[in-house]
Amino acid sequence: MENSFVAVTHDEHRRRGMAGMELTAENISALKALVYDRCHLSFPRGRESQLRRWFTQHAKEGQHRSFEDYYRAISTKDGEFERLISLITTRETYFFRMPEQFDVLRGRVLPEIINGEGKRAMKALSRGESYRTNLRVWSAGCASGQETYSLAMQILATIRYAKAWDIRVLGTDINREGIEVAKTGRYERMRLGKTPPQMIERYLEPRAASEVWVADEVKEITDFQVLNLRDLPRMESFKNYFDIIFCRNVMIYFDLPAQQGLVSALSDCLRPGGYLFTGEGEVLHLYEHPLEIVEEGESIYYRKAEE
Ligand SMILES: C[S@@+](CC[C@H](N)C(=O)[O-])C[C@H]1O[C@@H](n2cnc3c(N)ncnc32)[C@H](O)[C@@H]1O
Repeated sequence: MENSFVAVTHDEHRRRGMAGMELTAENISALKALVYDRCHLSFPRGRESQLRRWFTQHAKEGQHRSFEDYYRAISTKDGEFERLISLITTRETYFFRMPEQFDVLRGRVLPEIINGEGKRAMKALSRGESYRTNLRVWSAGCASGQETYSLAMQILATIRYAKAWDIRVLGTDINREGIEVAKTGRYERMRLGKTPPQMIERYLEPRAASEVWVADEVKEITDFQVLNLRDLPRMESFKNYFDIIFCRNVMIYFDLPAQQGLVSALSDCLRPGGYLFTGEGEVLHLYEHPLEIVEEGESIYYRKAEE
């Protein structure tokens, strides 16, 4: 593939470095193919000029001397590729986004799980065995962590005696910068938007004039990791593991075959009877998938059948 760039990157470009270089249509196609191959992100034709700006900005920041140098760097250095991904994906997010889904969690999904776990504990007890009720939740594509912490807050507010449970809420994203912000648990107070006041009161501690810090009891049940949702071997380690997955406003970047592949992989990660929540407009009706559709009020979400 690299040879094709030699033809379009002439001596003048080499002399002046990337600063003087225009990316050709061929260069853009090669970059798009690399990004699709690595993380399934795809871009409609209308966003070509935007893409060109992102790629050019990134290439210039790295002070590469030619397109070949730039392409080699992002193909081989994980950090370089991650920085490009940070540029081209939007990390827009906020606490308790799509509040109706949190209502469904509180009113239906969590009570069902609490009930099921209670029964399992009673059964174990009757056999003289010990059993710790547990809950596993994944916020896949969590950006800077607000979704993950919202889930953790909703869980703590809903489960009585939550301390007796083994609860883990995992937030993952391909974007390392977002994950670093998430780990701090520190957010600008002015960006709390429509976060329910009782959640702010209980779980977001005001610090300094402009910040809130996520309360320790919420942080204690959360973990964050960098994870590319295209990394199927890593996702296989989550087989039948999660009770609930939130993967919202992530698939918008994926074309239909990639969406279908992702939904199938996420469904494998759910335990039987587990739930998948997707974002607004990310309804899964355009392709086949193994999940049952649940409609409740304004919310559509998905359930993995019991075995
Ligand atoms: C708009 S944010 C959504 C954040 C949150 N889920 C919400 O709904 O508020 C989309 C996130 O998806 C992440 N993303 C896109 N492609 C990804 C991939 N292949 N693997 C993991 N995360 C990805 C982006 O980095 C970005 O942080």
